[in-house]
Amino acid sequence: MKSFLKISLVLVLISFAIIASAEINLSKKNNVISLSTPRPAKGQLDVIELRCAPIDTVRIALIGLGNRGAQAVNRLSYIKTAKIVVLCDLNPKYVKRAQDSLRAKGCKKADEYTGVDDWKAICKRKDIDLVYVCTNWELHTPIALEAMRNGKHVATEVPAAVTVEECWALVDMAEKTRKHCTNLENCNYDFFEMATLNMAQKGLFGEIIHGEGAYIHDIREGVFSPTYYSNMWRLKQNKKFTGNLYPTHGIGPIAHAMNIHRGDKMNFLVSVSTNQFGMTEYAKKLYGENSAQAKVEYRHGDMGTTIIKTELGKTIMLQHDVTSPRPYSRLHSLTGTKGFAQKYPVTGLAFEPTSHSFLSPEKRDSMLKVYEHPIVKEIGEMAKKVGGHGGMDFIMDYRLIYCLNHGLPLDQDVYDAAEWSSIVELTRLSVENHSMPVQIPDFTRGAWNKVKTVTYFK
Ligand SMILES: NC(=O)c1ccc[n+]([C@@H]2O[C@H](COP(=O)([O-])OP(=O)(O)OC[C@H]3O[C@@H](n4cnc5c(N)ncnc54)[C@H](O)[C@@H]3O)[C@@H](O)[C@H]2O)c1
Repeated sequence: MKSFLKISLVLVLISFAIIASAEINLSKKNNVISLSTPRPAKGQLDVIELRCAPIDTVRIALIGLGNRGAQAVNRLSYIKTAKIVVLCDLNPKYVKRAQDSLRAKGCKKADEYTGVDDWKAICKRKDIDLVYVCTNWELHTPIALEAMRNGKHVATEVPAAVTVEECWALVDMAEKTRKHCTNLENCNYDFFEMATLNMAQKGLFGEIIHGEGAYIHDIREGVFSPTYYSNMWRLKQNKKFTGNLYPTHGIGPIAHAMNIHRGDKMNFLVSVSTNQFGMTEYAKKLYGENSAQAKVEYRHGDMGTTIIKTELGKTIMLQHDVTSPRPYSRLHSLTGTKGFAQKYPVTGLAFEPTSHSFLSPEKRDSMLKVYEHPIVKEIGEMAKKVGGHGGMDFIMDYRLIYCLNHGLPLDQDVYDAAEWSSIVELTRLSVENHSMPVQIPDFTRGAWNKVKTVTYFK
């Protein structure tokens, strides 16, 4: 009897250990917050530079047709090797608007869905290659997981995930199913970012030691509008969470210029946020000094600043501010041992030996022309015509479809999606714990040094 009890106890402990290893555990040892790394399933391999079977015409299901989804329908309808077969949104008016947009371009009518859980049935359809997600943030990962589980590639608006646990779920599912899971991070494809990536890869800046990125965008009007974001989802996020809610526009281009998980990796971050002032002030102005909205405890600090240190000893500074009255900025600066580039607030390039001042605007522009990225050379003019933040959105879609058509690795892989999105929760953890350092998980589980540079495959 005694030995039976002993064996049962051991079995219970083992099963607890297995459950614990599947969860993300948080520890605060040695003044660093760290999260456990879940173990991959037996035989599960990484998906670095994953190649899948080429798809002649990429059949797309588009889920979420609000501000962003409507624009995606327009852009994708210009790409001959892509076909939108499903349109899905809770709002039938948005589905009709998207259908009208397809018809205006002479595209075939897509199947329509308006149910809250219809994305599950859509993911099960046999005639879809790519699920393209433009919903509010909380649905990105659930839909992406369901899509891959059912054998589809998935492209999701940013951030791809809102917790570290979701980031790991995306990585695990992509590795298990060998399907692409990509971020729709358009800022990587902006003209200056593409040119500076090209310059960085050609060594013009020398060793890049520091990068800065940001999302500084006064979106208070949209956030407080009852109709701009469906169900005011973005206001709810600002009420609930502090930290950097929207890191990918800032980190994406910097991470690629600095070869993150292609020879270097982000090790830890520290994050500091101001208290919250702007939302309350705006709510008072909009609804009145004593209104319920002015009394809400918005948790989101107005300006959040994060510093990341990499394995090779480089740093990245990220900022997030969506509630202060100031001009738009993503910073996008790269400091190297031989030169410097900066996009906002003044676009400039500086190189040794005259690096005390920026090149003249004429010299800067002629260098940007010389180092125009080959992909921009190929598709930049058409992108400007189609539009979408000046063309970068179209280049993003064009690249996604091109790589799927040719069976090439995607420019942004699931590890990019996980690393960039994980900053949402990691910055929150730091801010809520007196800016303690927080370890950034290695989502490649050791494969970060397997390839040595970012490649946009041709
Ligand atoms: N990359 C960029 O430059 C950029 C710009 C704007 C927005 N975004 C991102 O795009 C996403 C959408 O933002 P938005 O401004 O279009 O918001 P939005 O509120 O206008 O659109 C979201 C849509 O999702 C729909 N939706 C919600 N639940 C659904 C469900 N269960 N099934 C089907 N549809 C559902 C809503 O009805 C709504 O129309 C967000 O992730 C945002 O961060 C990215």
